[in-house]
Amino acid sequence: MNKFLEVAVDAARQAGSILRTEFDRPKQISYKGEVDIVTESDRRSEALIVSRLRAEFPDHGIVAEEGGTGAAAGAKYCWHVDPLDGTTNFAHGYPCFAVSMGLLENGEPVAGVVFNPYSNELFTAARGEGAFLNQKPIHVSRVEKLAESLVCTGFPPKHRRSSINMNYYWEFTLRSHGVRRDGSAALDLCAVACGRFEAFWEFGLSSWDTAAGILLVTEAGGRVTDLSGQPYHPGSREVLATNGHIHAEMRDVIAEIAGKPVKAL
Ligand code: IPD
Ligand code: CA
Ligand code: CA
Repeated sequence: MNKFLEVAVDAARQAGSILRTEFDRPKQISYKGEVDIVTESDRRSEALIVSRLRAEFPDHGIVAEEGGTGAAAGAKYCWHVDPLDGTTNFAHGYPCFAVSMGLLENGEPVAGVVFNPYSNELFTAARGEGAFLNQKPIHVSRVEKLAESLVCTGFPPKHRRSSINMNYYWEFTLRSHGVRRDGSAALDLCAVACGRFEAFWEFGLSSWDTAAGILLVTEAGGRVTDLSGQPYHPGSREVLATNGHIHAEMRDVIAEIAGKPVKAL
């Protein structure tokens, strides 16, 4: 395992251990927006990860959801860190949450770690070296048709009333085996990488949600673009990640839905 991944795995496991312990305790919740929750555990997890990355890689940039930063912007290497992806699940005692750490080199993903400390599932990937779940290689599924697929999406807590995603949710429900909404974009991407879901799409994500997961998907043989099929860069707001086989079909359906009159929400 390369040094970057080694440090990230170690930090994610330590942060995950904080989250696992605090998952069983009463949570202290505060609000960043109408339903945008943050807990003390988000902050403790982030503090641990950021101090570890700063100590190991003082010249690396860090963009972490709760405000942690590293070297000045423009650094060759930059970590995108979600110290707790799935905060709403965590706060409600639903055990679907993870630590997510993605490293970009000049803007391109080179290493990614997503760790769910409840299920003890550790997803890792390094560019050109494949994707792994608990050190075993993983691959996207072989399903070739949307009609035979299980797909997944999410709804960001911001701008809920203006989100058009309910239209997509409805249409994909009718055209697939079903749509899941599991509440952790990082784990949703990992689920595509290991073949549990055939596809994941979402509007309004941030770089810390996707930087690790998109590398997991591509290293597992899948495809990641924006919703119109253009190259995806961490920080693009929209993402479409699939097993590759159903990518064109998903993109075409998305274009078709976008052209339909929007249902009143
Ligand atoms: C959220 C989760 C959720 C997604 C939201 C994200 P958070 O991240 O990934 O699945 O639908 O868009 O904001 O707030 O739990 O870190
Ligand atoms: Ca997140
Ligand atoms: Ca988060």
